[in-house]
Amino acid sequence: MKHLRSIPELGADGLTRLLELTNHMVEVNRRPVPKVPALRGRTVVSLFFEDSTRTRLSFETAAKRLSADTMTFSVSTSSVNKGESLRDTVETITDMGVDAFVVRHKSAGIPWQISDWTTAAVVNAGDGWHQHPTQALVDCFTVREARGCERFDGLTLTIVGDIKHSRVARSNIAAFSMLGAQIVLVAPPTLLPPDVAHWPVTVSHSLDDVVGRTDILYMLRLQSERMSQGHVPNLREYSERFGLDARRLAMLPSDAVVMHPGPMNRGVEMLIDPSALPNSLIHRQVANGVSVRMAVLFDLLAGESSAGNLREVAP
Ligand code: NCD
Repeated sequence: MKHLRSIPELGADGLTRLLELTNHMVEVNRRPVPKVPALRGRTVVSLFFEDSTRTRLSFETAAKRLSADTMTFSVSTSSVNKGESLRDTVETITDMGVDAFVVRHKSAGIPWQISDWTTAAVVNAGDGWHQHPTQALVDCFTVREARGCERFDGLTLTIVGDIKHSRVARSNIAAFSMLGAQIVLVAPPTLLPPDVAHWPVTVSHSLDDVVGRTDILYMLRLQSERMSQGHVPNLREYSERFGLDARRLAMLPSDAVVMHPGPMNRGVEMLIDPSALPNSLIHRQVANGVSVRMAVLFDLLAGESSAGNLREVAP
């Protein structure tokens, strides 16, 4: 694997390989000193043109735990503010000698463009509405861990909310269906993409109708920063129809789990305190984020000597 830009490009074999490798990284992270020399001498730069808490910090932590050097590019203090183009920025950083770019950008497709301009590996940390492959890896790994299974045949994943603007939904639909899950999308028609009929999903406009038949309830944030017009005329009405409240929680099957990629909109899609959820995987998602990103960076950068390096990370 040269880049990680999307789940379809990664494919089912790549997905399974990275999930298996994540198990080794979980073991490293359980050690008293969670650090291995696997990527010593490699440099990872994070190039974030959009805000992030979890994704950025977990990539940087992952790189450090593998002993890579890290560089952080901060748009607000860079020459982008002097009008420097994305291409010149990428070429400048490449000249300094980096091995991987971790990229987040508001425009879909930017990771593919960047990979034309650099010899370094490119990891997509979110491109517009399009893809967020490491979030899908995190979510698949977290469900595998919670259910103790490798594939999701017979499980129903219900994704609720702003599907239209969600790169997390697009990546998760691809990844969970590769592992055999049935996928149900729940949203008002205004928050569904026009081509949803071609997706491997069923669609409902009523959370009440489907909540009792779900194994994984995946809540999404309303992406207000990506909305150009009133997709949701009334926030209170949206919450009433699509929010997770105590009544709907009680309708979930007892072994169902609740997930959210964060950041949460409390009072919008989350009407109950998430810490009060008995079956929440939200903290596991964040914790697994570091191990998954270690697996991705290792897979991309460990290179020729990867067999030897793998012994360093294997139990
Ligand atoms: C998501 C993102 O940025 O795509 N967050 C994340 O990476 N955990 C989802 C979101 O912003 O709603």
